[in-house]
Amino acid sequence: MSRGRFITFEGGEGGGKSTQVRRLTERLQAAGRTVVATREPGGSPGAEAIRDLLVTGETDRWSPLTETLLMYAARRDHIERVIAPALARGDWVVCDRFADSTRAYQGAGGGAPASLIAALEHEMLGDTRPDLTLILDLPAEVGLARAEGRGASAETRFESKGAAFHQRLREGFLAIAAAEPDRCVVIDAAQPLEGVSAAIWTAVAERLAAEPAR
Ligand code: TMP
Repeated sequence: MSRGRFITFEGGEGGGKSTQVRRLTERLQAAGRTVVATREPGGSPGAEAIRDLLVTGETDRWSPLTETLLMYAARRDHIERVIAPALARGDWVVCDRFADSTRAYQGAGGGAPASLIAALEHEMLGDTRPDLTLILDLPAEVGLARAEGRGASAETRFESKGAAFHQRLREGFLAIAAAEPDRCVVIDAAQPLEGVSAAIWTAVAERLAAEPAR
């Protein structure tokens, strides 16, 4: 049994990631793939409990360093219990956010040292690294306005971090894409939904041969 494929979605707030995760999952299933759709922080019972600590409450509830450690505690549980077993079974995994969010939010946005984040990636991810990362990019203020328009949610801790933070993390994601062009594809998330879905499918089909073998 060959290892499954691991696709991650990344980007700032309000880029439409959850809709696109759902659409891509359905399309891969229609092409005959077995797909595990999941998210971070969260995706396993333990990691979902840690998520509650991270995404609710006061903006300054945790420092960027503490956030980094909590994100990695959640991520390690998610990998051990969900992602690695699925890939070992040969399933495809589609994950709404993963390690690049820590680089962008806690690193570029929050100022956590890149050396710490790199060390955690090395020790905690092992070979569980994405084959393809789709970065849904749009101007920070457009994304924040969309996210605020989603209505009542307690999960606003990161949305409240201010415009300069969100600008830094957009630049952080674009820097990751520039540094790792083989893994990352930047998708214009300001265009209509159908265009975003089409660009994603093109990237997945070209890079991972998503259609079933004939
Ligand atoms: P979501 O809104 O996409 O579900 O993600 C929850 C929040 O968690 C979002 O504001 C981004 C943030 N986050 C980080 O700051 N670092 C991380 O490593 C991850 C996975 C998410």
